[in-house]
Amino acid sequence: MTTLDYQSGFGNHCATEALPGALPVGRNSPQVCSYGLYAEQLTGTAFTMSRAENRRSWLYRIRPSAQQGAFEACNIAPSWTASFGSGPVTPNRLRWNPLPMPDAPTDFVSGMHTWAGNGHSEEQAGIGIQLYAANQSMTQRAFYNADAEMLVVPQQGRLRLVTEMGLLDVEPCEIAIIPRGVRFRVELPDGQARGYMLENFGAHLRLPELGPIGSNGLANVRDFQIPVAWYEDIEGPCELIAKFTGGFWRTTLEHSPFDVVAWHGNYAPCKYDLRRFNAMGSISYDHPDPCIFTVLTSPSDTPGAANVDFAIFPPRVLVMENTFRPPWFHRNYASEFMGLIQGVYDAKAEGFVPGGASLHNCMSAHGPDATTFEKASTADTGKPDYIRDTMAFMFETRRVIRPAAAALAAATLQAGYDDVWGGFTKHFNPDRP
Ligand SMILES: [Fe+2]
Repeated sequence: MTTLDYQSGFGNHCATEALPGALPVGRNSPQVCSYGLYAEQLTGTAFTMSRAENRRSWLYRIRPSAQQGAFEACNIAPSWTASFGSGPVTPNRLRWNPLPMPDAPTDFVSGMHTWAGNGHSEEQAGIGIQLYAANQSMTQRAFYNADAEMLVVPQQGRLRLVTEMGLLDVEPCEIAIIPRGVRFRVELPDGQARGYMLENFGAHLRLPELGPIGSNGLANVRDFQIPVAWYEDIEGPCELIAKFTGGFWRTTLEHSPFDVVAWHGNYAPCKYDLRRFNAMGSISYDHPDPCIFTVLTSPSDTPGAANVDFAIFPPRVLVMENTFRPPWFHRNYASEFMGLIQGVYDAKAEGFVPGGASLHNCMSAHGPDATTFEKASTADTGKPDYIRDTMAFMFETRRVIRPAAAALAAATLQAGYDDVWGGFTKHFNPDRP
């Protein structure tokens, strides 16, 4: 059975059943469920969080998740690490070429490579930034991440996410969010896949407040798509992998864990098509800060200083007059990790390629390269710039982003990235105002 209908709305309460009448009416946990199902609650927040923050779902499944043997430690994803090192971090600006595709059979979990991060899952603050490259579907294997909510950003190759709550087909320029604890497997319809994956250890991602923008714009709630109930009733061994406190743990189930016949609640995976983002910007002069492109945010305990923001730089039209239109030179409080899904990023002439990544940490100066600066300084801003065929994104966080040792040692690390800003002509002339 394949069902690819979606419900819409991020964080909204949804109700869905793959068999008629599987959802109880009026009770969450009836004494006897329809079809002989077991009722199980999955919570994504503390019970006592405010109504606005509270996330939980009720699952009606063939067997309770508790029916499993003991976990044992395993080394299923040797490059997916929980430690981002200690001691001083280089202030150098860093840029990488794309991760190569693996030669050996590698699935979505074993193909994770930790590239950077901060904080720790046990602090419930910080992020892990992974690059993934895989060439094998997960078969008879399921995974859940107890450490983090996962934001998946495919760059090449589609993913089919088979989750407890249903199926999500995700392609490049779409993103998926898999909540902490939700079990899933990843199939690769195109045979191989590459992309980025953010682990969010902090407060769950949500849409940013819109303030003076009003009730419309940026990412709209209705464009977040949530799967409808789907199940498989399969007997036989299925390896269940858990990520917990940075380690990987394995047990074997005697049945498929994707046996949820019906569910309701507001704790569920979802996907979002970045091409539906309603970009906002200036129509007079200058341009707003990049937070105007925030798709999702995970707030921290300090209002306005996010644990992480996920922002994109989508196709758009620049119409500001007498203005330097690309991102300007800056040194920021926040730290920025960027990736490119497709096309060309408008602040760099070359070197930042799809699948690549860059890291500009707290107070490290960056901005347009010399070629981009010269071009934008002499551009005719009486005409609009149509920025097409592009989709860059940024993970921006209040904490310093610590590059992983493997990322600093990677063959894909570009030498001479500083040279990007080495060719500026001195224009200063005190006699020419
Ligand atoms: Fe920046």
